[in-house]
Amino acid sequence: MSELKWWETATIYQIYPRSFQDSNGDGIGDLPGISSRLEYIANLGVDAVWISPFYKSPQNDFGYDVSDYYEVNPEYGSLADFDNLLLGAHKLGLKVMIDIVPAHCSSEHPWFIESRKSKENDKADWFHWADPLPDGTAPTNWLSFFGGRAWTWEPRRQQYYLHNFLPSQPNLNFANKQVRHALKDVAKFWFDRGVDGFRLDAVHTINADRPPYIDNLPNPHYKVGPFPKDQQPFFRQLHDTAQLNQPAIQEFIQELRLVADAYDGNRFLMGELDSDNDNAIEVSKNFTASGRLHSTYNFDFLEWKGLDVSGIKAVINKAVDEFNGTGNISFAFSNHDVPRVATRQLTALKLHKGQAEAMQLMLLKLSVSLIGSTCIFQGEELGLEDVQDIPIDEMKDPWGIEFAPEFLGRDTCRTPMVWDSTESHCGFSTGNKTWLPISRNHFKMAALEAANKPKSIYCQFSEFLKWRKKQPAMISANDMTKPWGGEREIIFERRADKQNIRCMFDFYTLTAEFKEV
Ligand code: NOJ
Repeated sequence: MSELKWWETATIYQIYPRSFQDSNGDGIGDLPGISSRLEYIANLGVDAVWISPFYKSPQNDFGYDVSDYYEVNPEYGSLADFDNLLLGAHKLGLKVMIDIVPAHCSSEHPWFIESRKSKENDKADWFHWADPLPDGTAPTNWLSFFGGRAWTWEPRRQQYYLHNFLPSQPNLNFANKQVRHALKDVAKFWFDRGVDGFRLDAVHTINADRPPYIDNLPNPHYKVGPFPKDQQPFFRQLHDTAQLNQPAIQEFIQELRLVADAYDGNRFLMGELDSDNDNAIEVSKNFTASGRLHSTYNFDFLEWKGLDVSGIKAVINKAVDEFNGTGNISFAFSNHDVPRVATRQLTALKLHKGQAEAMQLMLLKLSVSLIGSTCIFQGEELGLEDVQDIPIDEMKDPWGIEFAPEFLGRDTCRTPMVWDSTESHCGFSTGNKTWLPISRNHFKMAALEAANKPKSIYCQFSEFLKWRKKQPAMISANDMTKPWGGEREIIFERRADKQNIRCMFDFYTLTAEFKEV
């Protein structure tokens, strides 16, 4: 029925491999585990899965620190396991997207091991190296997302290197043609295996500057908020004119698009993109101009403190302004980097705990009623809450460890899936211990039980997704009106040639209604 490409209206289920399903009892999820749960995902009615990184990695940032882009980390399985997963997913009609991490690799990657040795080696220019200022300090005032300076000293070269995240995630130098080639080869390798698309990690952090690097300016809009994440000094600076979102990123993106297009015209490039002061939607336009990314993965609904009704409307408004009629935007209310919806949105919408389920279902329906594609993090179809009582000595996320107990980082949304309510590890693992603890509060929300209960969020959402697929207005034209409605209402219409559907979300009753008009 649809003339659009699959990705333009796709519902994408995000799998965090470490926490999805363990198949060998080591307490860590793996690729065969994912294969064994594909039917559960397909029955939900989603169109695609996006699997967070499973490449070889020391796991300092849980896979976002790749030490070999061509290998599977042994704790997740093997390339053969990946091929098997791909085959299984395709058989069930699911597209498969994987994360690719272009901006940085692990400090254990042979490229960096070589580069850091001296100023004269094959890979000397593959990373951002800079001399200290005369007083010995770092070349710029740039800060890392995870706290502290974005520059770390390397005694062998007597120089600093750049890392926008952990010191063990050195930034690749995209001004170097060989680097761009190397990353394009990685994309080809996985496209050749049959993946349908990539979520490009943190494209705004790709750096292609040459020294002298320039300082970030102070952020005049910064206000110290009550929220621990916002108190981090990183947000006191503006990044878009210096450290991040550099124009040269487009050069790489255009080259990568040519790689994708050389396949069957059906391979999807979705770039994760943020910018200063909530400007991501505006900035996305440039990233999705002709010959660049198909879509950008937008952060606006992922606000750590959640969004109230007017906040949600404002995002929809902007998206309609910039992207109506296109599938060039991907939304997400949830992912592995932010607190879960049931935890943060209850407060933001001023609801009470008993309303969590209804809210969850309504927001899931809202997210897949918008133009473009939508990513849904594993466990959101169950309405899982964050796990906020992980003992400090069991925390794993380096960002949380750095700032706990004031700021807990991202472990709280990354705990393992609950499949059944068995006492041991809820069907996630048969081992003695899981990599992060499973919360007792999740026991009653087990996935396989939800999938068999007609009134569960899973079943109602699944019914909705199946209905959605049959509505031309929802899937065959990416056209929608601006939202309207009272203080606690969001109403908009989706429009196709032969059908208009009014989508109404009532934040008093927490119900969603869809009517042909
Ligand atoms: C964004 C990823 O989603 C996050 O988990 C990771 O820590 C950073 N990029 C760095 O790769």
